[in-house]
Amino acid sequence: MDVLIVGSGGREHAIAACAAKSSRVDKVYCAPGNAGIGLIAECIDISVMEYDKLADFAEEKQIGLTIIGMDSPLVGGIVDVFEKRGLRVFGPRKNAAIIEGSKAFSKDLMKKYNIPTAAYEKFTDPDEALRYLETAAMPIVLKADGLALGKGALICNNLDEAKEAVKTLMIDKQFGDAGDEIVAEEFMTGREVSVLCFCDGTHIKPMTSAQDHKRAKDGDQGLNTGGMGTFSPSPFYTEEVHKFCEEKIYQPTMDAMKAEGRDFVGILFVGLMLTESGPKVLEYNARFGDPEAQVVLPRMENDMIDVMNACIDGTLDKTDLRFEDNAAVCVVLASDGYPEHYETGKPISGLEKFDGRDDCFVFHAGTKKAGNDIVTNGGRVLGVTAKGTDLKQARANAYEAAKWVTFENKYMRNDIGKAIDEA
Ligand code: AMP
Ligand code: GLY
Repeated sequence: MDVLIVGSGGREHAIAACAAKSSRVDKVYCAPGNAGIGLIAECIDISVMEYDKLADFAEEKQIGLTIIGMDSPLVGGIVDVFEKRGLRVFGPRKNAAIIEGSKAFSKDLMKKYNIPTAAYEKFTDPDEALRYLETAAMPIVLKADGLALGKGALICNNLDEAKEAVKTLMIDKQFGDAGDEIVAEEFMTGREVSVLCFCDGTHIKPMTSAQDHKRAKDGDQGLNTGGMGTFSPSPFYTEEVHKFCEEKIYQPTMDAMKAEGRDFVGILFVGLMLTESGPKVLEYNARFGDPEAQVVLPRMENDMIDVMNACIDGTLDKTDLRFEDNAAVCVVLASDGYPEHYETGKPISGLEKFDGRDDCFVFHAGTKKAGNDIVTNGGRVLGVTAKGTDLKQARANAYEAAKWVTFENKYMRNDIGKAIDEA
């Protein structure tokens, strides 16, 4: 069959690579895709928010499975549009994607069903939020309720910063309507782990763990970004932590969504903080993480398409997820200045060094073709992923491979996976 992938980042490139190697798949399409995806799939110039046009395309090409990579179309209801037209699609419906689309919803869900998470309050009135903050414990985390490109969580060390954050989110509306409501959340400390899970509405199967590096600069300094690099597995995600999460977080979340009439089918991304008092949920996402997908999917031994079909058919309980007994590290190569101002259109060289390799990969995020060149076209430009027998080897391999690629204003963090040394 032919598959269609909706999105254009490194995550979609990693998904496309898995789809391309599936024995079930003849041809991969991606809308809109990018220059790297274009090397293994046919890119279609339709935006991720044009649900009807995408469905028209899927119908016309008799696409056997459409995979939605990105959050905004999922939260906007693309899956419902496809299902209404009888098209097979992988991802949660709108009423389930709300678990990512509204922090207020997800916090209320966790409270109602006793799923461990930070204590919180919600506000729709900035004055009320400011009154609450006068006596709240600091630091505190203020979050826009809605989608904000992973940048809507503001950590405030004192009252002045908290007041400023209320202004940013609710008055200046830096994230638009996403800041109509905010969540004020207890500040937690600990190691962060991302666990992406396949879900079929009833059953949930966690994949191997990963750790993201959200801040722009070394030493976890600078602004929050979409993610500057990842490693997998996380040495801090022990068997004991896993068992706790299975019992208290993963299955309870599936059951809670079902009890609310919001059966979750697709990828549930559970962002965890491993606190002194046990693992707690930082956030849920309704899709693969980016760059988490770039270290998790290359290690998966199953045929991804088979697992996705099991999710849609409600037979995930019969699937055993298997991952290679190795490690992977992804270093994001960004345009200097990201996540603020940066230049684009810079020619990229060295990409051919990855051709034909199965131990390291270059996933494209912000790239496009310009004549015979591939040029930078975004903040996060490429994700260089390397495998290794263990995390240290994978990290050394990833930093070596990151040198192969050059472009003007190339920027990367030099400490991706530093935490490995503390394990
Ligand atoms: P979120 O968008 O909710 O994942 O938040 C983005 C990042 O902010 C997380 O990955 C954490 O690094 C940080 N963060 C969010 N909530 C908290 C919290 N309650 N305590 C400490 N850090 C947090
Ligand atoms: N890397 C975090 C995310 O995909 O939201």
